[in-house]
Amino acid sequence: MRVGVLTGGGDCPGLNAVIRAVVRKGVSEYGFDFVGFKDGWRGPLEADTMTLDVASVRGILPRGGTILGSSRTNPFSIDGGVDRIEGNFASLGVDALIAIGGEDTLGVATKLADHGLPVIGVPKTIDNDLNATDYTFGFDTAVTIATEAIDRLHTTAESHHRVLVIEVMGRHAGWIALHSGMAGGANGILIPEVPFDLDEVCGWVESRFQSSYAPIICVAEGALPSDGDLITKDASRDAFGHVKLSGIGDWLAAAIEDRTGKESRAAVLGHIQRGGSPTAFDRVLATRFGLSAIDAIHDGDHGKMVALRGTDIVRVPLADATGELKTVPLARYAEASAFFG
Ligand code: F6P
Repeated sequence: MRVGVLTGGGDCPGLNAVIRAVVRKGVSEYGFDFVGFKDGWRGPLEADTMTLDVASVRGILPRGGTILGSSRTNPFSIDGGVDRIEGNFASLGVDALIAIGGEDTLGVATKLADHGLPVIGVPKTIDNDLNATDYTFGFDTAVTIATEAIDRLHTTAESHHRVLVIEVMGRHAGWIALHSGMAGGANGILIPEVPFDLDEVCGWVESRFQSSYAPIICVAEGALPSDGDLITKDASRDAFGHVKLSGIGDWLAAAIEDRTGKESRAAVLGHIQRGGSPTAFDRVLATRFGLSAIDAIHDGDHGKMVALRGTDIVRVPLADATGELKTVPLARYAEASAFFG
């Protein structure tokens, strides 16, 4: 059997660990051979491939990024896109595909599975916002990086008696902000799920200074003030219709300084959260997802996504993962609020 593999959407630490596990087990246990599709859905659309064998996956376990490359290409926004993919699969002799991605990449995989293409999905996103899996790989690495940044911001904030706002990723879901803010002891955490009240945030800032500590506010890029709009970089949209976020950190630091008179600065972590080597947790999760995905291909159990439930890797219908996003439940946010201010 010949299996295609692609990685789509924003990259994420652990992608290479999945690719390695898929290929190693696929070759040694099932005798499959592989086609690497380059740059997400662009690869199958344009029949742009690379060799994917045991030699090409040696040494990639600890490496961030993806050896296959990634893009946000959407075949459903291109005329005849699906027919081109089907034609290219036939001419390349591809029998099944493993698509490693987040909501957009797996959304395409779900629709292609409905068209009858044999696809298995592997969930990836640092945002941890995919439904039907307890965790996605990449999230633990992003939280670890953001937590270390918060630890560092505490000491400089205290030396200068400043407010430090840290902006982390999280377009629709505030998981990175919630976990890194909790782990780093932030004095306020702002997430997209709960519009924030600027007066309340300023109240946390004042009360933190009263106890002689400098406040750290951890804000997700998709958080928005209760009486304002989402802050975006510009008006452009990607192939899936997403605007470019970032800017809330600077906006918030300026607003806090304006209202409280306390000097405030913002640090925007940006793509640092997505780069570099995965944590041990993410390497293990990504490896287990890869092993399970190739088993699903062998079993012909198509239209499924591998998922973490507790400590088990299970298979769920792709549609369960992509129907709606997994956002932070209000009760989880309420837990963290014990430390605000
Ligand atoms: O992959 C999701 C994500 O991490 C979002 O939180 C963020 O908005 C987006 O990626 C930014 O990615 P890029 O700059 O690559 O478009």
